[in-house]
Amino acid sequence: MNTTSSPDELRNRLVDEVRNNGYATNPRVEYVMRTVARHAFVPEAELTEAYDDNTVVTKRDTDGKSLSCASEPSIVAMMLDQLDPQPGQRILEIGAGTGYNAALLAELVGPDGEVTTVDVDDEVASQARRNLDDQGYERVRVVTRDGVLGVPEHAKYDAIILTVGAWDIPATWREQLVVGGRIVLPLRFRGTTRSILFVRPSSEDRLESHGMRLCGFVPLTSQYGDREESIDVDGHVQIGWDCDQPIEASVLSGVLDLEGVTEWSTAEVGPFDPFDGIWLHTAMHPGGCRISADENAVSTGLCKPIIRYRTPALVDSDSVAYLVAQPCEGSGDGDRRSRLGATGHGPRARELVQAMLHAIAEWDTDRGRVPIATILQSGVRSESAADVLIRKTECRMMLRFEKS
Ligand SMILES: C[S@@+](CC[C@H](N)C(=O)[O-])C[C@H]1O[C@@H](n2cnc3c(N)ncnc32)[C@H](O)[C@@H]1O
Repeated sequence: MNTTSSPDELRNRLVDEVRNNGYATNPRVEYVMRTVARHAFVPEAELTEAYDDNTVVTKRDTDGKSLSCASEPSIVAMMLDQLDPQPGQRILEIGAGTGYNAALLAELVGPDGEVTTVDVDDEVASQARRNLDDQGYERVRVVTRDGVLGVPEHAKYDAIILTVGAWDIPATWREQLVVGGRIVLPLRFRGTTRSILFVRPSSEDRLESHGMRLCGFVPLTSQYGDREESIDVDGHVQIGWDCDQPIEASVLSGVLDLEGVTEWSTAEVGPFDPFDGIWLHTAMHPGGCRISADENAVSTGLCKPIIRYRTPALVDSDSVAYLVAQPCEGSGDGDRRSRLGATGHGPRARELVQAMLHAIAEWDTDRGRVPIATILQSGVRSESAADVLIRKTECRMMLRFEKS
């Protein structure tokens, strides 16, 4: 990249790229992304880094793990497209970070709207306050608090957005939202994370989803409902699952040393074709979860999932199966297509491999299809039909695919 370009040129180039990636489809979102100076919210980053379509980490823990960052601009745009904030609205953001997204929100709601942003980390919140003041967004409120509590003193909100990963949906967020209000949040379930738009319908006790898209976020510091543990002695392979699932990593210990079974589906993907929709079908299985393997596990052939650090898997007590791929026959450099399949290990490997092939086939009939999610607070009765019920601590999540 030409380092002599001005911030405005770099920003416009970045937004062109975000648009090409299929985000900022809302012209108002595109406009504010071309307006707000992202580099001013990450003052320690090089200009080129500030205008790369990537996260900019602004705080790490002593092990180097990211604690706070400015999120990837494409994901910021995708979530603002989902939220669709309107002039004059009152918005709550959870995860103030650098303050950049709060500034975008302030532009979107205009002078008659209100933006409140909250961060659990005092140092991060103070820096967000400084960044916002420096850029003329004094009217954005910055609060230091655990975002799980929301900010009831300024509720109710027309919309809430989380820019930090959630595993559960506490009643506080729904209660602080007006009837008809929208909440967009990255929600973890069955090993995957989706940015889901929920609307609070007239009924008091539920949220209904209107679309979900793949994303990844640092988790909220105060929700502990999912687990990740190794299933081999040396810690090269991990599985990740939800605490309501009957999964015990210790029961799977050593399973990958047993001879594997691999079968292939008829589904093919090109090098840039997304296949993350398969997660949404494995999530319908009681053992739907995630597997990740380090380079050693892949090079020794112990475990070769389609994406090393994050692949859909199915577990049934002492057995596991996961998504794999192999180059299609005759596929050369110019046409690198892969066939999808499943590899399983353990006494129930064959059944799990068949279940994974079924998930692949379901996805392949309509690759863009996403389920509808309904959120009910724990303890609230419901007659609604669901293909799967995920019990979280504060809510139940019901998922169903509409019949096509
Ligand atoms: C990806 S960053 C947010 C990016 C931000 N929206 C921006 O535009 O720069 C996630 C933030 O969530 C914050 N966070 C983590 N757990 C939290 C919690 N329990 N409550 C509120 N904020 C939390 C982190 O401190 C971090 O700053």
